[in-house]
Amino acid sequence: MKNNLNLQHCRESAQFITKRIEGTPKIGIILGSGLGGLVDDIEGKSIIPYSEIPHFPVSTVEGHMGELIYGFLKGSPVMAMAGRFHFYEGYDMAAVVFPIQVMKLLGVEKLIITNAAGGLNPNFEVGDLMLIEDIISRFPDNPLRGSNEEEFGPRFPDMSEPFDQKWIEQTFSKGEELGIILKRGTYLGVTGPVLETRAEIGFFRLIGGDAVGMSTVPEVIAANHIGLKVLGISVITNESIPKVAKEFTHEEVVDVAQRSGKKLVALVKEILN
Ligand code: HPA
Repeated sequence: MKNNLNLQHCRESAQFITKRIEGTPKIGIILGSGLGGLVDDIEGKSIIPYSEIPHFPVSTVEGHMGELIYGFLKGSPVMAMAGRFHFYEGYDMAAVVFPIQVMKLLGVEKLIITNAAGGLNPNFEVGDLMLIEDIISRFPDNPLRGSNEEEFGPRFPDMSEPFDQKWIEQTFSKGEELGIILKRGTYLGVTGPVLETRAEIGFFRLIGGDAVGMSTVPEVIAANHIGLKVLGISVITNESIPKVAKEFTHEEVVDVAQRSGKKLVALVKEILN
């Protein structure tokens, strides 16, 4: 039988990290492609390269740094992941969500997940931020497939509210206060690494997707399993809209994410409490 969750490995990773930081992180933040700018605002940083952490996978994609950063954002103790693990890189789903489970052991209670995504909703514009209200998984596997670790969560986790509704509303209000327009919608997760065909884009819109990307879904599932409160924010880096979709590159995705990242940083700093 598949043993997807190695609790002992999680514990060893967490013990290693605990020794390298002073304090307990309360909020985990996953920084998507091009969104690493938030790290500059973290004060009193301890930086731990993934390569030094026992059992941690190593990030391979361009534009990602591969480090855990502990420190304070507006006084809140945070643990940021600069660089995440994608299924398309070849990791299995258990490896993709391993850092989330380690964060839980470190004391994290809330998780902010960011990503770069293609906009399927015709009302979205490149550079928009979208609060993720729900997800659709197009992954062929689930990070929780295999034996269940009761200490982490139930065999059949509820996913009726994968994102914390109160936190969404609070973030939406903050956005209004700060003059940052926030769209809302459903994130549809695909494996990649290929981008969508035009027919797929039509299909994804038809089944209710507002944005499409290659991450986030596994992490949201693992976070719900272990009882973290989750907030998800997509930066819309390109239009994946039937008839409108045109060719784009990963460099363009990172460029738009970096520019819109400023809005995201301003927002994230205000929604930590
Ligand atoms: N599709 C999938 N992943 C993405 C996209 C997209 O259009 N844009 C950024 N990440």
